[in-house]
Amino acid sequence: MPDAPVKRDLVSVQDIASDLPSLLKRASELKAERKRGKLTPRLAGKNLAMIFEKPSTRTRTSFEVAMNDLGGHALYLSSKDLQLGRGETIADTARVLSRFVDAVCYRAFRHADMLELARWTTIPVINALDDLEHPCQIAADLLTLHERWGGRFSGHRLGWVGDGNNVLHSLLLGAAAVGLDITAATPAGYRPDATVVAAAEKLARASKSRIALTGEPRVAATGADALYTDVWVSMGDEAEQAAREAAFRGFQINEALVALASPDVLVLHDLPAHRGQEITDSVLDGPHSAAWDQAENRLHAQKAILELLVAPHLRSRGPR
Ligand code: CP
Ligand code: NVA
Repeated sequence: MPDAPVKRDLVSVQDIASDLPSLLKRASELKAERKRGKLTPRLAGKNLAMIFEKPSTRTRTSFEVAMNDLGGHALYLSSKDLQLGRGETIADTARVLSRFVDAVCYRAFRHADMLELARWTTIPVINALDDLEHPCQIAADLLTLHERWGGRFSGHRLGWVGDGNNVLHSLLLGAAAVGLDITAATPAGYRPDATVVAAAEKLARASKSRIALTGEPRVAATGADALYTDVWVSMGDEAEQAAREAAFRGFQINEALVALASPDVLVLHDLPAHRGQEITDSVLDGPHSAAWDQAENRLHAQKAILELLVAPHLRSRGPR
């Protein structure tokens, strides 16, 4: 009998913290290959199931194109159309998908459901966003900064202005893993989760980077080498829209805030943007914006993630 497959998930940035430098290098190589028109079918014949409980433009498209570029196939599965939407358990869904496909990416409302899927699958599970993290996004964000800063993170500082939820959580972990300093400004009541902050601080001690939390956007912005924001109302938080719009007033990346940052500041946004709320048109469309490269880099980062998690798993896969 061949060895049992070694399954590796990407549920949290913590799962790939030590892989990030090589993952970013690989993503850059894959990007260069694609620009040269060269595609190598490293995942030929392999299938990725993509379960989405929420809408997506970038994540869905980048996974689908990534699998196609790598010679494999991706299946889009809306949770509404699956029996999952009629009460079939995550565990049973996981057992069945594990017999058909080689990996599954999952966009979930609840992190607990992500963990449940990872628990019951025998194939890699990739977090395509949940209420706690968005790890694939952060791989693309770090790739964007890596390109612009010639591969150097240490000595740079990123200022976050916005909500203390999924994107910031993964960013804190990712920045700390690669040695990037971060100052995160969030309104009172919207601070990042203390457990995630503690995990990021542990990574920051190892990389000798600094994490600071503040309630003041100007503190995050002043002298920053990058500024990053996300929507005030995340998917699933729509019932809190009015309260959030009140709490986040002032947490906008606009020209006045950009003027406090480094003259070469890069402005990031994971997108979709709510123009006029967390970011102004003039900044998102302006000379400092790296948001469009950042969106494109979802594709190249996704490929590196798929190679890392899926290719080694498949090599050891045998009869069940
Ligand atoms: N940034 C991001 O995850 O975008 P989508 O919701 O369009 O996938
Ligand atoms: N924080 C946002 C990110 C969207 C990509 C959300 O969860 O809706």
